[in-house]
Amino acid sequence: MSDPARWSPATRAVVAGRPAREAGAPVGPSVELTSTYVSWEPFGATDPGIYTRMNNANWRDLEQAVGVLEGGTAVVFGAGMAAAAALFDLVPAGGRVVMADACYGSMLSLAGKLAAAGRFSLELVDVSDTGAVLAALQGTDWLIIESPTNPLLQVADLAAIGEAANRLGVRWAVDNTFATPLLQNPLDFGASVVLHSGTKYLAGHSDVVLGVLVARDPSLLDAIVAYRGLHGGILGPMEAWLALRGLRTLAVRVERQQASAGVLARRLAAHPAVERVRYPGLASDPGHVLAARQMRGFGGMLSIELAGGREAADALVAAVRLWVPATSLGGVESLLERRRRIPAEPPTVPENLVRLSVGLEDVEDLWADLEQALGA
Ligand SMILES: Cc1ncc(COP(=O)(O)O)c(C=O)c1O
Repeated sequence: MSDPARWSPATRAVVAGRPAREAGAPVGPSVELTSTYVSWEPFGATDPGIYTRMNNANWRDLEQAVGVLEGGTAVVFGAGMAAAAALFDLVPAGGRVVMADACYGSMLSLAGKLAAAGRFSLELVDVSDTGAVLAALQGTDWLIIESPTNPLLQVADLAAIGEAANRLGVRWAVDNTFATPLLQNPLDFGASVVLHSGTKYLAGHSDVVLGVLVARDPSLLDAIVAYRGLHGGILGPMEAWLALRGLRTLAVRVERQQASAGVLARRLAAHPAVERVRYPGLASDPGHVLAARQMRGFGGMLSIELAGGREAADALVAAVRLWVPATSLGGVESLLERRRRIPAEPPTVPENLVRLSVGLEDVEDLWADLEQALGA
């Protein structure tokens, strides 16, 4: 007999958060468009929620599905950055935070702003340098990292970092946006919190902005849910519904995107206009061995550094006809961008770096477009 406890993540992405299997029940959820719910004393005793800033059926469906995939309890937010704000709020006043020196720029901007205001002290480390991360852990309250990182595709040693952080009592969070829960589950390495910009792979169609925090520790979850209710950075029911619809195809999307990314990475590495390809799936990549050990695939993101410098990078972005010059990632359409054009991008990111988010188009069409644009 089919045992739900043994279903694979690909199956769970399809079935989690569905309405009950009852005669006449809809196969998929409807959108619950209400700002408030009928309720009376005793307050909250039986109702799942009384007001949509606190709770909503469409959040619950999406949270159930993402929670199942990450192996924890998920809490959704109106943006990845709203989730990040809730995460930083977990840091005790006057505490110490260690973060990746090359990660999503707005994460660094927000952390820098909070540190400048005296909320906590901040140290930045290269997360691919495990020794440096371990050396920074002493006296730290929270370590907040990405793996693979955006946009350098650096890989952090989750097992070694997790072992040390948990031994020293340091809470640690991993932004799992690039990997998706299908390729990596940081909670299984002992991470305290996982963050997703659900805007990217989880929703997958470049049509909704959302964030997610996932955790197992009830005290952290209580604090996260309380923060969301008070600060109001919530996801609309319609957006939650859209994101769950997108999540249903996560496995087939990621499978195709990473297969194409691997092909493109190998061809780009052999192209004379390309100085360096950053993709953990390449045997020559510094993160390859680690990624092969801790991930179930290498993902659909890669970055290239152009031999002709910043001008060549701009020229590539201007010359493509199929790839879309746009920020963001993880959607069905292939996007590319020179990251340093964005003011928040840290100086650790080279000026000649173009980040590519591989979509679902035919890989030969994607390659032909890159090849003509690199030669233009
Ligand atoms: C790795 C990563 N984390 C967090 C965020 C922030 O998410 P959002 O744009 O959904 O607020 C992004 C956005 O690009 C991201 O790439």
